[in-house]
Amino acid sequence: MGNKTLAILKPDSVKKNYIGDIVKMILAAGFKIKGMKMIKMTPESAKLFYLVHKDRPFYNDLVEYMTSGPCVPIALEKENAVAEFRKLIGATDPAQAEEGTVRKLYAKDKAENAVHGSDSDENAAIEIAHFFSTQELV
Ligand code: CDP
Ligand code: MG
Repeated sequence: MGNKTLAILKPDSVKKNYIGDIVKMILAAGFKIKGMKMIKMTPESAKLFYLVHKDRPFYNDLVEYMTSGPCVPIALEKENAVAEFRKLIGATDPAQAEEGTVRKLYAKDKAENAVHGSDSDENAAIEIAHFFSTQELV
């Protein structure tokens, strides 16, 4: 199992001032922050990031949402990071997320769901490289 994953505090989390609370949960769960920045994604960047979903009905709305305001990508490190982080954030739809998870606490619905987490070690590496140069990873 790899030890890296990519989180994004999505635009709804930034707008609602949840950055501090969610970062606190991430650190309390034992993740180390290797890189962190605030950016506003361009449509090109968001389309590429979510290319795997290009044929899904929610793709255009997803790109619009992810470019609607600043977001905070965070490169994280922990043993078994991908699975551990997805456990911390809970199911895609907050209605199905377990109590105490980030999405249960902070997501509005299955679209505006507060946070992203990589789904495999391979994608974690691709997604970290999408946002961070090697210099930006400590
Ligand atoms: O983010 P996660 O890996 O849990 O879910 P996904 O299936 O990879 O979907 C990526 C993102 O698309 C979700 O986090 C939602 O923001 C959005 N989505 C949506 O708007 N409507 C859906 N039915 C499913 C996902
Ligand atoms: Mg996913």
